[in-house]
Amino acid sequence: MVSVTLFAAALVCLLGVSVQAVEMSMHLVSKVSPEFLHAELMARSTPGSSRFRQHMSQAELKRHTEASDACTTAVLHWLDTHGATDVRVGSMGDHVFFSIAQSDVAFSAPSAPAPRFGRQSLPVPHDLADCVRYVFRATSGTPQIPKKRNNVKGNFPGMNQDPLTIAARYNVSHDPIPVIANFSQGVAEFEGEQFYQSNIDAFNTRYGLANNTIEVSGPNKGGYFGEGNLDLEYIQSIAASATTWWIAEKDFDFTKWTENVLSIHPMPLVLSISWGSGESGFDNVTMESESEEFRKLGLLGATIFSASGDQGTGTTGFFSCGTFDPTWPATSPYVTAVGGTYANSQTSEEVSWSGSGGGFSTVFAAPSYQQSAIHNYTSTTALPPAEYFTAGGRGVPDVAALSNNFEVYSYGWGTETGTSAATPTFAAIVTRINAQRLSQQKPSLGFINPTLYSVGHIGFDVVSGNNQVSGCPAGFNATVGWDAISGLGTPVFGVLDAALSG
Ligand SMILES: *[C@@H]1O[C@H](CO)[C@@H](O)[C@H](O)[C@H]1NC(C)=O
Ligand SMILES: *[C@@H]1O[C@H](CO)[C@@H](O)[C@H](O)[C@H]1NC(C)=O
Ligand SMILES: *[C@@H]1O[C@H](CO)[C@@H](O)[C@H](O)[C@H]1NC(C)=O
Ligand SMILES: *[C@@H]1O[C@H](CO)[C@@H](O)[C@H](O)[C@H]1NC(C)=O
Ligand SMILES: *[C@@H]1O[C@H](CO)[C@@H](O)[C@H](O)[C@H]1NC(C)=O
Ligand SMILES: *[C@@H]1O[C@H](CO)[C@@H](O)[C@H](O)[C@H]1NC(C)=O
Repeated sequence: MVSVTLFAAALVCLLGVSVQAVEMSMHLVSKVSPEFLHAELMARSTPGSSRFRQHMSQAELKRHTEASDACTTAVLHWLDTHGATDVRVGSMGDHVFFSIAQSDVAFSAPSAPAPRFGRQSLPVPHDLADCVRYVFRATSGTPQIPKKRNNVKGNFPGMNQDPLTIAARYNVSHDPIPVIANFSQGVAEFEGEQFYQSNIDAFNTRYGLANNTIEVSGPNKGGYFGEGNLDLEYIQSIAASATTWWIAEKDFDFTKWTENVLSIHPMPLVLSISWGSGESGFDNVTMESESEEFRKLGLLGATIFSASGDQGTGTTGFFSCGTFDPTWPATSPYVTAVGGTYANSQTSEEVSWSGSGGGFSTVFAAPSYQQSAIHNYTSTTALPPAEYFTAGGRGVPDVAALSNNFEVYSYGWGTETGTSAATPTFAAIVTRINAQRLSQQKPSLGFINPTLYSVGHIGFDVVSGNNQVSGCPAGFNATVGWDAISGLGTPVFGVLDAALSG
């Protein structure tokens, strides 16, 4: 795929034609403020609120998020004048996607160097300043190097895991969940990830499980199998009989990915994202804009899980430690970040895995739902030296699950390790809780973090382990209660169900 795209770009140069177009988008000013939408989400996801779990419909959300008619008209006219092509307004009325000649002078040069991953923000053209919040382009029209998939092969501590051992530990039933028309969950995939149904069927057959329906929205080609098979094999086997959507995008772009989710009717209610990389590799404005996409999905009643990463605290340093570098998009305050544990081979107790991504965002402030838990942790536990992390940042992860030595079938059996194993595992358990709720005519869970922190325990509190990176002076220790390596701990079905039933 990479060589095909580069070849096409080279061809344009050879022909001497300056028509090379670059994909861009604008995030428009909505009818309501970002603060209003934040307050709406909190009112609908905080236990005790009179509007708890009263989710918005897509039509209602769009009435808030769409730009004014005057702005939409002005932006479309401006794009037309500048020869933009493939112009498309997003389904919530606050994004415009387009292609434009690379040479167009309407956009001034970016003030910061191009990020390693994702899109780059550009200054907003002066004449659109009242209508446009952010402008983005796909970086320089060349393919992005795939981010590290959050799964790593090698020798990892802990017992091997499969759907049966996980179900036994977390007390999850093997019974198929109630069949509810059009009820589904989804996995996010990017950059040429692919799966074959036959691999998933072989996995289910080995464990005596039913074959479940997998639907595809977006590409399923490209020849990378490491993440897709892991995600699907665990999310569909633990949440037996729920339809699972493969929601894929070529680029690591959560604005496009959210459009993809919104195009599925009814929308999947639990979403599992096992992709990410250190915040330092991304553009700040891109992360802020894409975080608002997760907020929209929460307002619509979806629960989003995001792997906290496999690099422990992370580090911006190459030869020395630098500063810690927590994983985006797990650091978005609108997702539930999932860390990793392993089952000690002697005692069978869960221990926080040293690779489990955890720490404090350098971009997002700690949301109110988390502040007391963070305060407890930072005031009672020995911490790494203060210059390495951002005190006051959003703490990750929120929760954890087993992550090590998962049996995976990908044209042969092997094991995979990483928070990308923990994430679909936790997501599937929440899908089971959602299915119970929907079969009782209750609303879906939606954004669960305020509820999780208000209850404070979800099953097993993981109290040992440290995520120090080699070359850095220290990592974060696990301890009683929330900590920056295993969050609030790992689930026991009945305890998590009771916590979320509030
Ligand atoms: C496990 O689930 C069963 C059936 O739902 C329940 O009776 C039992 O109390 C649960 N055990 C634990 C440890 O939560
Ligand atoms: C389920 O989805 C299909 C296809 O979108 C639709 O035709 C059908 O009416 C839906 N059923 C229910 C019960 O919502
Ligand atoms: C699942 O599919 C595989 C391959 O099609 C088949 O061999 C197996 O019997 C199926 N399992 C069940 C429980 O239907
Ligand atoms: C990103 O935001 C952080 C926190 O506000 C700031 O320290 C950093 O300099 C910003 N980076 C860029 C490239 O703007
Ligand atoms: C913080 O610690 C206090 C005292 O141990 C405890 O009562 C409270 O529940 C803790 N809060 C959170 C959010 O963990
Ligand atoms: C973490 O715990 C270990 C002992 O278990 C201790 O030596 C260390 O000082 C603690 N704190 C940090 C920041 O590593």
